[in-house]
Amino acid sequence: MPAVWAGGWSDDPAIEARVERLLKQMTLEEKLGQLSQYSGNMQTGPDTGRRDYKEMVAAGEIGSFLNVTGEQANRYQKIAVERSRLQIPLIFGLDVIHGYRTTFPIPLALSSTWDTELVERAARIAAMEASADGVRWTFSPMVDIARDPRWGRISEGAGEDPYLGSAMARAYVRGYQGESLSDPTSLLACLKHYVGYGAAEGGRDYNTTEIPERLLRDVYLPPFQAGVEQGAATVMSAFNALNGVPASANPFTLGQILRKEWQFRGFVVSDWTAIAETVAHGTAIDGADAARRSIVAGVDMDMQSDLYRTALADEITAGKVPVSIVDEAVRRVVRVKFAMGLFEDPYARIAPEKMLTPDHRQSAREAAEKSFVLLKNDGILPLKRGARVALIGPLADSAGNMLGGWSAKGEEADVVTLRSVLAKELGADVTYAKGTEISGGADGGFAEAIEAARSADVVILALGEDAPTMTGEAASRTELDLPGNQEQLLEAVAAVGKPVVLLLFSGRPLVLTRAVERAAAVLEAWFPGVEAGPALVRTLYGDSNPSGKLTASFPRSVGQLPVYYNHLSTGRPLPGEFDPNSIGSASKYTSRYIDQANSPLFPFGFGLSYTTFSYGPVKLEALSYSAAELDMGKAEVKISAEVTNSGLRPGQEVVQLYISQRGTSVARPVRELKGFRRVALQPGETKAVEFALGRDELAFWNIDMQDVVEPGKLKVWIAGSSKDGIPAELTIE
Ligand code: NOJ
Repeated sequence: MPAVWAGGWSDDPAIEARVERLLKQMTLEEKLGQLSQYSGNMQTGPDTGRRDYKEMVAAGEIGSFLNVTGEQANRYQKIAVERSRLQIPLIFGLDVIHGYRTTFPIPLALSSTWDTELVERAARIAAMEASADGVRWTFSPMVDIARDPRWGRISEGAGEDPYLGSAMARAYVRGYQGESLSDPTSLLACLKHYVGYGAAEGGRDYNTTEIPERLLRDVYLPPFQAGVEQGAATVMSAFNALNGVPASANPFTLGQILRKEWQFRGFVVSDWTAIAETVAHGTAIDGADAARRSIVAGVDMDMQSDLYRTALADEITAGKVPVSIVDEAVRRVVRVKFAMGLFEDPYARIAPEKMLTPDHRQSAREAAEKSFVLLKNDGILPLKRGARVALIGPLADSAGNMLGGWSAKGEEADVVTLRSVLAKELGADVTYAKGTEISGGADGGFAEAIEAARSADVVILALGEDAPTMTGEAASRTELDLPGNQEQLLEAVAAVGKPVVLLLFSGRPLVLTRAVERAAAVLEAWFPGVEAGPALVRTLYGDSNPSGKLTASFPRSVGQLPVYYNHLSTGRPLPGEFDPNSIGSASKYTSRYIDQANSPLFPFGFGLSYTTFSYGPVKLEALSYSAAELDMGKAEVKISAEVTNSGLRPGQEVVQLYISQRGTSVARPVRELKGFRRVALQPGETKAVEFALGRDELAFWNIDMQDVVEPGKLKVWIAGSSKDGIPAELTIE
């Protein structure tokens, strides 16, 4: 499949000629230097112990840094381009995950906007700010599909669905890289973590993954392929072993799929010490063996293992690694450096005035508002002006947490908290009580919280996780309810009898089964970024109408995990919903638990609004299509439905298209997302929403492991969530 390369950087004959000329001049040591990356300041994993970077750069032993920014980056660059023999510039990379100085909502929240234009804009803003501080490469987007919220890194991705994940992957890549890599505001994107990292067994970070090839190709690979086709310049190989083979030394995923099938022309960087870790996995005997296996498999750059530079030369001399493999890796790295224009313009123009502009803040606020998911509302929201408010909870005034678990250069002082906005707007009509800590809190603060609730008309309770310690990397949890004694605080406050609006701040789906019963309204706010306070207050008071939809299912209990919407049916599906009284009845021998429903508490695609939307029947243009024509891209299934704002407020609805196929050579999921659109509707307004299903949407990896459209029956839903709607059915012959 021909790749759609952004900016045409990968096949410019002038660049190719320069690459070859440079390669001819390089010593083996200089080549290995280009393939070696070191962390400048922060150590977010095992340390190499090396700090003699200036000498190393001068000797041509380093090709790239991570965690070096600003003037320090320019200082290293000066050494590289003035003192190293071949004057090859360095690339500076950083984890710019959801904004640089202007912190946007965390990626899971951004995905909940279902707004690819907005995500692209957020990534562009991040690129403009980061590049104005010397960073030209981000280790983002994380496009790992995550079906298990125990895994802390579910916060960094777009949730459980490959179709949405692919759309988000493309949006990030477009935003980061912009029109051309040679634009000084362009950041190299890095699709990570290739591949299967999100399927960690038991949700425990870094754990083994077992993914059969069909599932890999149908579910885990598509977002990577989408990002590659969009022109992503780099890919990061993951920590995990996939089906027993470490992902950072996997010839099948790196060589066969990424390079051969997708024709990826950029370079692959390992995750932090992932090459060295293949020794712990047990496939590599020692460091030299690890370096050999990884470079041969197709990992071009070594992040922090310090092995390519120190061990590969001997492997080459011993004839264990052909130098042609090293040459090819060097080509890939310097090709990107040429395409970035670094040889002509190696220095960053540091421009603090480009950070956190009013426009950037405005986009961060819009993103936060669109990311909020209203999970429950008995009518208390939006709040009425004039009501006395008790603002309670450890997250009501926590600037640090609003920045999420991994903000690049966000500062607490930049954050506008919920408490500060409410205090300004309501004055004496708001009372604040922290109530407890996020975790490890005693109940000493409960009395003050109860008192505040008593004297108010409504309680806003801000609860959730501690972003830096409980979400992101190395933050897997086995319990997913509210940490510490926050559930007790909720009970105590709810017992006062005033309506409770529960605001949740989390980096993952939580188990809210009990909490939801206590609250009159529940709004999932994730970690919303610098504009948390204004976005929340506008939403609470109805200046902004919630429109976010879940991109990962919220389980009823940890015992249900994994729970995701696009599962297979089984031969004994549970008819209807769980009924505890039916034990011993006809549904006894069906696939279910005896003590709980199979369904999640809140499904994928779910999210309420202050208005309501109604859906007309799914309209089909034809009742049958030819599989061969669909497969060749000569036909498309056209479907539409009318969507009406049936409530009293203007609102935006994320209209979702789902399919399910039967009669196929392998069982297909009960539903799969294959289209979505954000539609703005005034009260009473109706719009027809049309979708087309072509090869890209209908093909799957069949029993012969071919990616084809098969004959069968096709059900189609157009609905507001993965659990709603009435399907129409057509035939593919
Ligand atoms: C390890 C993480 O897994 C990866 O996502 C990140 O980009 C690198 N460290 C660099 O910080």
